[in-house]
Amino acid sequence: MKKFVSLLLCALLCLSGCAAGNGGASPESVVADPNSSENAGASQEAPSAEDGLLHVGIIQLTDHPSLNTIREAFVAQLNAQMGEKVVIETDDAQNDMSNINSICQKYVGDGKDLIVAIATPAAQAAAAATSEIPVLYSAVSDPQAANLVGLPNVTGTSDAIPVESIFHLAAELTPDAKTFGLIYNTSEINSVSVIEGAKAYMQENGLQFVEATITNSSELQQSASSLVGKVDAIFTPIDNTVATAMPVLAGIANMNQLPVYVGADSMVADGGLATVGIDYSLLGTRTAEMAAEILGGKSPSEIPFEVLDDYSTILNPQTAKEIGIELSEEILASAVQLGA
Ligand code: TRP
Repeated sequence: MKKFVSLLLCALLCLSGCAAGNGGASPESVVADPNSSENAGASQEAPSAEDGLLHVGIIQLTDHPSLNTIREAFVAQLNAQMGEKVVIETDDAQNDMSNINSICQKYVGDGKDLIVAIATPAAQAAAAATSEIPVLYSAVSDPQAANLVGLPNVTGTSDAIPVESIFHLAAELTPDAKTFGLIYNTSEINSVSVIEGAKAYMQENGLQFVEATITNSSELQQSASSLVGKVDAIFTPIDNTVATAMPVLAGIANMNQLPVYVGADSMVADGGLATVGIDYSLLGTRTAEMAAEILGGKSPSEIPFEVLDDYSTILNPQTAKEIGIELSEEILASAVQLGA
């Protein structure tokens, strides 16, 4: 906590006084370079003042397919709309809180015109690092619960998941599943709020649940194994910790004929059975449209955050086969199919 406060203080000092060093990071490079923030206090003109271009920093929580999809779609769309006017720098925080903070601090020190933060922990850190520079987040499952609503310089896009629809799908695919294991990281607010919704739904609909919480991805194997024999199916939200080790969960669950209902398409691709979810490239594209508005001079306070809600059913037919679940022609025809 102490470290965080001092980083914040430094970020504020940089902002109010000395402008920026550009940290040596090259535009478009996806590298985590926690040391590159060391120049953040150097006395130099802000880059935006130097070259007349608009500087965008994209901080991505981790190198994960859904998050990469967002970034790629964002960059493509922003370049299409205002390519010659923007310089985009991207950094991968490698799921590490101190990397997240130093990247945000570097962006603030550099005097970026816009900080784009992909996934909840990155968004929270970016919002804490500056109240001046516009912060645009993407893929934040619950912006309200993450305290990202009502800040004048912050807006973005949400991948809120339709919990009820996922349980309706579960009732259709595996009607005998009455007890669900819930796997999530208790420190991820984006998961906790979805799990609360899931529990409320289950209580109202006569379903039981068993929780198996984790604090990091190395605990996933044990927590998944602990559910074997106790539950009929597993539900896991869009949890960054679970998602990074999804093949571990899928391996154990599929071996034990346990269907895994997940929150995001990539978790289906990684062996989960099914979800009802969004297309992350659309989320990235929409986020870039909002970025163009902000770079064009609109304040984030004039742009309400948006939840992308054109959901599709997403299935992994290979997983269904492995765990002995028959998928009807009808459901296959209407669903996106992922996986091997
Ligand atoms: N919604 C997540 C968050 O709020 C981020 C996220 C989106 C994600 N898609 C994902 C994480 C897929 C892992 C896998 O932080």
